[in-house]
Amino acid sequence: MEKLVIHGGNRLTGEVEISGAKNAAVAIIPATLLAQDVCRIENIPNISDVITMEHILKNMGARIRYINKHTIEIDTKPVNSYIVPHEMTKKLRASYYLIGALLGRYNRAKVSLPGGCDFGVRPIDLHIKGFELLGATATVENAMINASADHLTGSAVYMDKVSVGATINVMLAAVKARGLTIIENAAKEPHIVDLANFLNAMGADVRGAGTDVIKIHGVNELHGCTYSIIPDQIEAGTYMVAAAATHGDVLIKNVIPKHLESISAKLIECGAEVIEYDDAVRVIGAETFRHCNLKTMPHPGFPTDMQPQMSVILTIAQGTSLVSEGVWDNRFRYIDQLIRMGANVQVDGKIAVIQGVEELTGAPVRADDLRAGAAMIIAGLIARGTTEVENIIYIDRGYEDYVEKLRDLGADIYRKEIHDDTPRTGAAS
Ligand code: UD1
Repeated sequence: MEKLVIHGGNRLTGEVEISGAKNAAVAIIPATLLAQDVCRIENIPNISDVITMEHILKNMGARIRYINKHTIEIDTKPVNSYIVPHEMTKKLRASYYLIGALLGRYNRAKVSLPGGCDFGVRPIDLHIKGFELLGATATVENAMINASADHLTGSAVYMDKVSVGATINVMLAAVKARGLTIIENAAKEPHIVDLANFLNAMGADVRGAGTDVIKIHGVNELHGCTYSIIPDQIEAGTYMVAAAATHGDVLIKNVIPKHLESISAKLIECGAEVIEYDDAVRVIGAETFRHCNLKTMPHPGFPTDMQPQMSVILTIAQGTSLVSEGVWDNRFRYIDQLIRMGANVQVDGKIAVIQGVEELTGAPVRADDLRAGAAMIIAGLIARGTTEVENIIYIDRGYEDYVEKLRDLGADIYRKEIHDDTPRTGAAS
């Protein structure tokens, strides 16, 4: 097991290249189950969530060939099972996309309930409602979801709540259903659009992704294709915050600036400078930061997956900031770790009240989940002294080569082996 050791105080400067989007990759890889031929996927991020998803597909019989570090070919023709057991799904929330993809392929799926980051209750009622509206029966027995249909038929699917996962799962099930599916109150995240573009590249007929009404005309067959995944919005946002928080000056390359607007807006409100180019943003930190309020919301609102990182800047901003979590019930667990570093924060339900302090000081802390782990790194980068971050397995799930990327920007950060058998808590988003 490893931990991170960070000696804080260095300004981040230079350039960093953003990898492909994790949340798009973990939807696109299972979507290849719908194709009748080989799919070549480029700009695949080299992170453990992607490796886990590839492992699941391989276990089902798919052939996966790495062309280079970021390009894979997936041939799902040899797959002959619609059953995915617990050992495969326990590490990965996104394993639930196998339900939609297998239903689309076989009209049948038996998939163990997924693992994933612990943000409180993470229901999948909307996914199941969507499958049922397409004509499937779905039951949960022994923690396995068992969904089946003679055939799936397009239908109107109204999402009671905006859900990324349910929108993607219904899209996967509907692309080969008979007739027209209309998803209303759909999620609009960039990776929903990316998945729609991938499905269309395979011959699907998906329109309206990126708006709250997605229309899908079912087709009989999907073919192989070559597709390049979009850059990771949250990885880019994390480096933007790290650059600003360390009073640095960093050019963040291979991004879609439009996807970063809500993050840029909050950084500018706090006093940082953000300059947009066609496929890059430059972030220049302020010497002192102003407080600001933020509320996380579905896209195009401020992303919940950037809430922990942005809160770190607010711990050293002048004045009092209010951070309101509008997506998850329980996403402030990491605040305890920031308090250990000297932050002054009070949490009341879904609101954190952050009173800015002069500085954070290094401490041993824990990554409670993926984005909480990113926040701990940023806190360590700005803190006086040494911060050690444990449970970094969660960070490895979603950030490619982050130690190397941060070191290239001037951070004093390295991995250190730990020999400690004490069981740790925490969860894998
Ligand atoms: C995805 C992201 C995750 C991000 C989240 C919100 C992936 C792999 N993960 O998670 O990083 O934090 O979007 O942007 O893309 N809900 C229900 N019933 C359901 C499904 C969801 O009530 O059936 C609720 C959830 O409890 C939550 C809200 O809807 O309060 C949003 O969840 P959802 O958008 O589905 O999150 P995920 O797709 O799991």
